Order: sequence, then structure tokens, then C-alpha cells
Amino acid sequence: MGAVVGRAAQEVVFVDGVRTPFGRAGSSYAETRADDLVVKVFREVLRRNPALPPERIDDVAVAATTQIGDQGLTIGRTASLLAGLPTSVPGYSVDRMCAGAMTAVTTLSSAIMAGAYDVALAGGVENMSRHPMGEGVDPNPRFIAERLVDIEALNMGMTAENLHDRFPQLTKERADAFAFGSQQKTAHAYAEGWIQPDLVPVAVRSAELGWGLMTADEAPRPSTTMEGLAGLKTPFRPHGRVTAGNSSGLTDGATAAVLASEATADELGLSKKMRMVGFAFAGVEPEVMGVGPVPSTEKALARAGLSISDIDLFEINEAFAVQVLAFLDHFGIADDDPRVNPMGGAIAVGHPLASSGIRLMSYLARDFERDPLARYGITTMCIGLGMGGTVIWENVNYAGSN
Ligand SMILES: CC(C)(COP(=O)(O)OP(=O)(O)OC[C@H]1O[C@@H](n2cnc3c(N)ncnc32)[C@H](O)[C@@H]1OP(=O)(O)O)[C@@H](O)C(=O)NCCC(=O)NCCS
Repeated sequence: MGAVVGRAAQEVVFVDGVRTPFGRAGSSYAETRADDLVVKVFREVLRRNPALPPERIDDVAVAATTQIGDQGLTIGRTASLLAGLPTSVPGYSVDRMCAGAMTAVTTLSSAIMAGAYDVALAGGVENMSRHPMGEGVDPNPRFIAERLVDIEALNMGMTAENLHDRFPQLTKERADAFAFGSQQKTAHAYAEGWIQPDLVPVAVRSAELGWGLMTADEAPRPSTTMEGLAGLKTPFRPHGRVTAGNSSGLTDGATAAVLASEATADELGLSKKMRMVGFAFAGVEPEVMGVGPVPSTEKALARAGLSISDIDLFEINEAFAVQVLAFLDHFGIADDDPRVNPMGGAIAVGHPLASSGIRLMSYLARDFERDPLARYGITTMCIGLGMGGTVIWENVNYAGSN
């Protein structure tokens, strides 16, 4: 037998992550192309990491849920060309609904782990102003005719109502209190300057309003009160529990992240914010898609040989408050545990579907930076049509005793 040809498995590090400020759908980004938002985050992440020669990027993956028009045409490739990346750098598109950017990261990371790539650029975008949820979909009639999924599974707000039904202990009061906390934590994080460093200002133009500059998220409502939340309508069901206040809103935005093998990061002198420990995706009944992060987290923990008590920080996407609560209840974590979403989350800043996975990772990287005694953290999110995704990360700057 000859010598083994090929390369050994490599560690993956999260080098850096940036995002546009998130806009409310129908507002500042309504006349901005989605691919231009991706160009903005690509340019910024390269500007911030001058030690990375762009020609060293082995591949680019960009996620979008609605891959039509300015979010179509293999946006991973088109945005790379538009951003001025060398033509030798290839690119592709990813869709796993809300976990698109998370999947871009895990897929590219798998290639790095396998030794096929050294450096990769992941991204996600959703301009929900220009591409409302469900645009152009054509579900196979068999889904309904054969009851493969309940019709309610196609409406995310209804799946959140279903979760309240399934877990009656997850009351509207608890959901509102969690939403209130998200707004408070976001306001605190802004006041402390924790969020701004990873935002790239975006010039916007509106035929009606003229030019503007987006420098902060548009959606947060720091003056939210429990009384205000209690009085909101329940758009998904009469006398329901899910409201505009305890849901993530319809949002526009883009994210990008640089991933590298640890050896390449060291070789080039790139920053290393966190190391990927492992990841998992799992399926659940589509009617209760919000519970997806429970099995994906259990699977990811088991594969990593960790237990939930090893996790020091949680970045959980807040598609709906009830869905976060279902996760916390399952793992016996208090609704207001300070390890959970310390900078707030999607209920306040919004959830531009396919881009949010990298927003969670950028937040976790900042959480780790503030807390060198935190060793492991997870980013997790629920996914339309009944899935969950979880990525476990290790703090590269962990300064604890073991
Ligand atoms: C819930 C949803 C339908 C609300 O949409 P909307 O009605 O356009 O939302 P708005 O921002 O206009 O808010 C509705 C009302 O609630 C009020 N409101 C929203 N958040 C509030 C808060 N924190 N405190 C007080 N009032 C609030 C608004 O002021 C508005 O009041 P008005 O009707 O008097 O103007 C929409 O955000 C949605 O579909 N969210 C889920 C998105 C989703 O499914 N994502 C995928 C997840 S898997």
C-alpha cells in the first residue's frame, strides 16, 4: 500500500462576522437590492480582515429563503463578483429557510474539516420588503391531500400558536415577559456599545424620502411595557397568544462571516473568535416547528460528548417567544437565565430569515469576548417545515481552569 494521499481533519474557527443593521420590512431597505446588501457585508468583512488575501477564499455560500430576482441567480456567486472578489473564487446558494446562513456555515465548515478548503466566506440575506414570505411558493397538493403536513404548518405564526396549545404551561404572560426582556437586553447592549461594532453602515435611498444612512437596527422598541404587550392583537388566531410584540417582525438584512481552518488562521494571522465543536440538524412535526432546536441540540450535544450543563452561553433565535420558552423548559433553564441571549434577540432586532444564523454566531462571539470564563456556547434556531439547527462553539480565549 502506498502512503495515504490527502489531508487530515482540520479544526474550524470563526474568524469574524458582520451584518447590516436590520431594517423593518417596508421601510429603509424597501428599495435596496438584496444582492447589494450582501456586497456591503462582504466588502466590510474583507476590509476588517486585511490579513486575508481574497484569493485565499476557497468558496462562498450565501443563503436566501426566497431565491427569486435579486435573491436568485446563485447569489453566492453573483454577490462575490459584485463585491469584487477574484473571479477565481467560486460561490453557490443555500436554502434551509431560517437556518440558511447557519447551513452555509456548517456546509462550508464541513469542507474545511475535511481538508478540502482552508478559508470560506458564508453569508445570508433576506429582504422581506422585496420578497415577502411565501412569494412564488407552489406546495405540492399532496401535502394537504394526503395530510403529510397540516395546512397550519405553512404559516409560522400558526405553528407558534400550536406550541402554546401543546405546552399549556407556556402562557402568553411568559411569552410577553420574555419579549419584554429581549427588548430590555437589546437596549442595554446598544447602550453598552456591544452591538454596533459588527454593524456596517448602509446608504439607502427611497424615491419618497431621499437618501439616508442606516447605522442601527430599526425594529427595537426600548419603551415596550408589559401592559403594552398585553393589549396587542393576536393576528394568527382569534384570542390567541402570539402577537406582534412576542414575535420577530418582518425584517430586511444581510450577514457575512469568515471561517478558516485553525492552521490557516494562524498562518495568515487572522483573528480566531471561536472554534466549532460540532453541529446537528433535526426534524420535528412541521405543525410545531418551533420545538426543532430541542432535538437538534440533544443530537449536537451527544455527538460532541457534552451535556447541557456544559453550555455557558446560549444564542437562541427568537422567531417567537413561545419557541424559545419550549427550549428553555425542556432543558430546565429559567426564562430569564442570564446565559440566554445576553444581547437580546430577534424579537427586538428582527429576523431576516436566511441571514439570522450568522447574526447569532456574531453575537455569541461577542458574548465569549466579554466572558473568558465561558467555555462552550451554542447557536440554535427553529426552521420552517419542522426542523431545528444547533452549532456548538468553544471560546478560543477561554481562561478557565480546565
Ligand atoms: C406578527 C406579525 C404578523 C405582525 O405584523 P404587523 O402587524 O405588520 O406588525 P406591526 O409592527 O405593524 O405591529 C402590529 C401592532 O403591534 C404594535 N406593536 C408591535 N410590537 C410592539 C411592542 N413591543 N410594544 C407595543 N406595541 C407593539 C405595533 O405598534 C402595531 O400597532 P398598530 O396596529 O396600532 O400600528 C409579523 O411581524 C409576523 O408575521 N411575524 C412573524 C414572522 C415570521 O413568521 N418569521 C419566521 C419565523 S419562523
